Amino acid sequence: MSTHTVTWISMADGSQADYEVLTPLFEEHARSALVDNLVSMLAMLRGPLLGYQIDRYDHSLQSATRAHRNGERIDLVIGALLHDVADAFAPENHSDAAAALLAPYVDDETHWVIKHHGIFQGYYYFHHLGGDRHARDRYADSPYFDACVQFCAEYDQNCFDPNYDSMTLDNFRPMLDEVFARPSRVPGIAPLA
Ligand SMILES: [Fe+2]
Ligand SMILES: [Fe+2]
Repeated sequence: MSTHTVTWISMADGSQADYEVLTPLFEEHARSALVDNLVSMLAMLRGPLLGYQIDRYDHSLQSATRAHRNGERIDLVIGALLHDVADAFAPENHSDAAAALLAPYVDDETHWVIKHHGIFQGYYYFHHLGGDRHARDRYADSPYFDACVQFCAEYDQNCFDPNYDSMTLDNFRPMLDEVFARPSRVPGIAPLA
């Protein structure tokens, strides 16, 4: 652990030498804390049932368990586990927020499916609210359309069963550790020119 502390209070006064110390400090911390932080965010979904028979934490475990037991690849299993994690802090665009946190670590299809699962999930209830349950059809040309339909059908709309025997979060920990240890697929903190 470095004992280096910058002398300045405004980034405008920083030097290359400062950032050669600061950047790896942050990157190492961010990586080592990431999965624990994600687990803490998932735990925020515990508690309120909001009229359903299970809470959103158990919904998330049920989603990931069904995906895992159906033989889905690890990217989609972890996508399922985290697909609603942003409900706790980005309720107006939870699909986008979850996709953004997954983007550096999962394959393109998983990212697309999680990003669009909210509108695809609407097939099951938008019409009850006066909306268009076929709103997902605007994405009919996407190569991932069928995958998102399947995700919602098999790993989301049906994951409200209080009697389903879900795996525990500890069971998913090795998968979380594996996925979030991957090299980032998106530009990092200091992309080179
Ligand atoms: Fe969702
Ligand atoms: Fe969900």
